[in-house]
Amino acid sequence: MPDHLTITDEDATRVITMRRPEKKNAITQDMYREISEAINSAQHNPALRCLVISGGAGVFTAGNDLEDFLKDGTAASDTPRKSNAIKFLYALAHNAKPIVAAVDGIAVGVGTTMLFHCDYVVAATTATFATPFIHLGLVPEGASSLLMPRTMGYQRAFATLVMGRKVSAEDARIAGFVNDVVAPGETEARAREVARDICALPAEAVAISRKLLRPSPEDLTRRIDQESHLFGERIRSTEAVAAFKAFFARKKA
Ligand code: COA
Repeated sequence: MPDHLTITDEDATRVITMRRPEKKNAITQDMYREISEAINSAQHNPALRCLVISGGAGVFTAGNDLEDFLKDGTAASDTPRKSNAIKFLYALAHNAKPIVAAVDGIAVGVGTTMLFHCDYVVAATTATFATPFIHLGLVPEGASSLLMPRTMGYQRAFATLVMGRKVSAEDARIAGFVNDVVAPGETEARAREVARDICALPAEAVAISRKLLRPSPEDLTRRIDQESHLFGERIRSTEAVAAFKAFFARKKA
């Protein structure tokens, strides 16, 4: 299997880097599984105090692999949806270690929604954020319907999540889900620096404080389940299947 991910432990920080640049880091089922394992295995390792998630230089991720969506949408109706994406969302919901994200380019779909589970987000000036669920005939996922209005306010979340409007790095900073905007190519270095700052803090107090600030894992997984149920229905809709096919047909036209 091609290696679409690197996971390295650097001092007390685990750095997870998506590496599928030829597909804009679109996330496959194997990638979801490996990222989930990297998050879950960090939980009970006291030597690890922080996680960094990055897409490398120039991109974060184009979101869920649309080929997988198309397969799910056209599978026989009694075929269960692939669940590695859900496992990944559960791993984020239960994660107790601070996560710093380095967004050096596009962050689409789950590329944006996962950021609302992160604790600190560094973005390049060229980064853009988009949750185009509506244009795919889909609905929000990843507890974004809970977390995005909570972070950005309802009206901004409506424009982003329901109208599918793209958000620039600077607008994301103003909206409150990006901490630092840096020059392109500098996001990972800045994210590592922030991670080192977090690692230098008293770990137990960080964990307790973080827990106080966030919705509980139970609230998050309840919303993930509600959204997933609706998402699973929508993925088989005529609207959605037509949108997935249109994406792959666009270059042939
Ligand atoms: N799933 C599968 N493949 C994807 C993908 C995705 N989510 N996003 C991009 N790719 C592939 C493209 O098919 C293309 O492959 P090819 O070279 O074999 O044709 C390659 O990645 C590069 O993408 P391309 O569209 O040529 O790059 P771009 O810079 O013009 O546009 C995006 C980048 C991200 C704006 C565009 O690819 C896009 O809209 N992708 C879909 C994003 C999406 O809807 N994600 C799901 C959200 S729920």
